[in-house]
Amino acid sequence: MNHLTVKYNELSAEEFIYLWKSVWDGAPSLEQTALAMQNTLFRISVFDGQEIVAMARMIGDMGLNYYIKDVVVKPEYQHKGIGKMLIDELMKFVRDHGIKGTTIFVELCAMPDKIPFYEKQGFSANEAQRLKLMCEVK
Ligand SMILES: CC(C)(COP(=O)(O)OP(=O)(O)OC[C@H]1O[C@@H](n2cnc3c(N)ncnc32)[C@H](O)[C@@H]1OP(=O)(O)O)[C@@H](O)C(=O)NCCC(=O)NCCS
Repeated sequence: MNHLTVKYNELSAEEFIYLWKSVWDGAPSLEQTALAMQNTLFRISVFDGQEIVAMARMIGDMGLNYYIKDVVVKPEYQHKGIGKMLIDELMKFVRDHGIKGTTIFVELCAMPDKIPFYEKQGFSANEAQRLKLMCEVK
């Protein structure tokens, strides 16, 4: 592993899909992903040389709600502290941009086996359940 480089707000749709495929099935389309990147508050990407190895992004309204999405570390780079660094960077973004003197709701959705990772970063689960509906756009 070379020295890792962190980039801000440069994560492309192609890089996003590449990393998505390293950990999940059913990657979204390039067009959908490009629009999502464009409308993301804050994107962070991590490179080992020329190769992207991790990403995370923050969506939200900047005032009341921030939502962490798509925290991915390529499998061969996991358990080296990169995931923690991504969360630290996302939380720094909130502290730098949130209205001073307020308390801000930072939220995310995690699979059960990833909850301990987020608990180590200070998050806690509550009784709320995720509801979803896959909406077909014609
Ligand atoms: C979840 C993920 C981002 C963690 O990234 P990582 O770089 O491996 O995490 P780190 O090395 O920074 O780990 C930080 C701490 O969390 C712990 N940890 C990491 N993954 C964990 C897990 N699944 N369960 C319990 N603890 C975990 C580490 O042991 C470490 O503990 P320490 O601080 O006591 O040493 C990574 O496993 C990943 O990308 N998974 C696939 C995609 C995914 O599911 N993302 C989450 C979407 S909700």
